[in-house]
Amino acid sequence: MPTIPEKPVLLTGASGALGRQLARALATEGWTLRLTDIAPFPDPLPARASFTKADLNDGVAILRLAEGCGAILHFGGVSVERPFEEVLGPNIRGLYHIYEAARRERARVVFASSNHSIGFHERSETIGADCQFLPDSYYGLSKAYGELMGRLYWFKHGVESVFVRIGSCFPEPVDARMLATWLSYADLSRLMQRCVLTEKVGLSVIWGASNNARMTWWRDDARDALGWKPQDSADPFAGQLAGKVSDSPVAERYQGGGFAAMEYSRPSDSHG
Ligand SMILES: NC(=O)c1ccc[n+]([C@@H]2O[C@H](COP(=O)([O-])OP(=O)(O)OC[C@H]3O[C@@H](n4cnc5c(N)ncnc54)[C@H](O)[C@@H]3O)[C@@H](O)[C@H]2O)c1
Repeated sequence: MPTIPEKPVLLTGASGALGRQLARALATEGWTLRLTDIAPFPDPLPARASFTKADLNDGVAILRLAEGCGAILHFGGVSVERPFEEVLGPNIRGLYHIYEAARRERARVVFASSNHSIGFHERSETIGADCQFLPDSYYGLSKAYGELMGRLYWFKHGVESVFVRIGSCFPEPVDARMLATWLSYADLSRLMQRCVLTEKVGLSVIWGASNNARMTWWRDDARDALGWKPQDSADPFAGQLAGKVSDSPVAERYQGGGFAAMEYSRPSDSHG
């Protein structure tokens, strides 16, 4: 089984929290990486990596960057809730540029989607990867849009995609919700390797969470087909974090947590 992709891999959002982790981990595996971000890359450049500063709004720059690449790990863009006009450029137009580049290069896209694309499912539900999109924010809506764009490019042009609905990818879980949603950096990096190295992925969805006992919300994704088995777990943090809940009934009701509660104004008599 190969461990190094035949062609270079483009990583967007390389200067962000997850991009920096992936740049280091994948370079250590011997991968040739093309890194890009609108912000400077803050670390020493890993072996075999190049960095080019570019705005996802710049379609020509993205086409150039993707030239000769076999896969695009798309981690760049607005990564929290922001006003619609701020999300629009990086996350909507930028995504179109990524998919156009992938079409031209016949490259695969691995898209850093989010649990916030389905954040208005209730915590009492268990949902499969084919569940309804219920975005909890403009940010989450941009992730649902990205997954739909991937479907368009697969059916129309045969561009493969893995949509990774990342839960909470941080060094450690920091509250009770993350006892369910936490994804370790190491599990993320192993997942990216499977996303790129698996021979065929077609359209695949992965719930991006580690092996957490409290993860009862999400099931039925493509992990077996990709050969990804998360090895880390939030469980050892349960003792110290179980009581660390928010004071918002809306945040506690929905899977998206605080994003669902942000600027929430639904009258209680409109609940079915
Ligand atoms: N960290 C998590 O728990 C989590 C959860 C769900 C989804 N995600 C997704 O994973 C990806 C990475 O997350 P992160 O935590 O590293 O976020 P981050 O904000 O640290 O990184 C995002 C990067 O995108 C870059 N960027 C923003 N606008 C850009 C533009 N116009 N052109 C080029 N680059 C631009 C930023 O400079 C930043 O370096 C994001 O797409 C995020 O939505 C992360």
